[in-house]
Amino acid sequence: MTDSFNAFGSAEEAERARLNYDRKYKDLEPEYSVDYIRDWVRRYTSLMDYAGGTLLDAGCGIGDWSVGFAREFDVTGVDISGVAIERAQARSSSINFIKGDVFNLSGSYDVVFCRGLSVFNRPPKNSIFREALSNLLNLTAKLFVYCVWTEEPYGERYKKGDGSDGWYKQDPKAITALFESYGDARVRVANNYLIGEIRW
Ligand SMILES: C[S@@+](CC[C@H](N)C(=O)[O-])C[C@H]1O[C@@H](n2cnc3c(N)ncnc32)[C@H](O)[C@@H]1O
Repeated sequence: MTDSFNAFGSAEEAERARLNYDRKYKDLEPEYSVDYIRDWVRRYTSLMDYAGGTLLDAGCGIGDWSVGFAREFDVTGVDISGVAIERAQARSSSINFIKGDVFNLSGSYDVVFCRGLSVFNRPPKNSIFREALSNLLNLTAKLFVYCVWTEEPYGERYKKGDGSDGWYKQDPKAITALFESYGDARVRVANNYLIGEIRW
């Protein structure tokens, strides 16, 4: 266990985020079919090169992607939302779903996958983004996969419904520069996603 890094800034913010996600996940239906996810992952990532290994789905929500990986991987899914984890666990007994903060996890997984993990909704130069990344890389034995929804103009912020600033449209150049500072990196934009990988 590590106890030094809180991606939410404070215990209060972490609790607020958890409650918001609990609310969201009460009625949310799975977004994608298992076939869609398996096809998407084969097309846009090198994750299947590590089939047969262990995989951590960091911020797994109700487990859509975890379930998509379960045929090829020994999957662990972690999420701060207890509602999400209960619903995810009801979908598969072969996956180990854990309610908790991924930044308090220890261990090593062949693949660490994160899609839309909240802490990355800020520019990659931000120190919290960097600290989160290096924490996740500490859990990664072979391949780190990062996916976020993005679109041009890169570097600007999406607007929330009330017009206030939301998360960043991640810039492939900035993510590439950061990821290359860690190792063998590959970054691409496809299907409105920025997909970044770091191979050890
Ligand atoms: C935008 S959702 C994406 C869910 C899922 N990965 C997907 O693609 O459908 C972000 C998820 O990350 C979870 N999360 C955010 N920070 C976390 C943390 N530090 N540890 C574990 N889960 C976290 C949230 O509870 C939420 O379920």
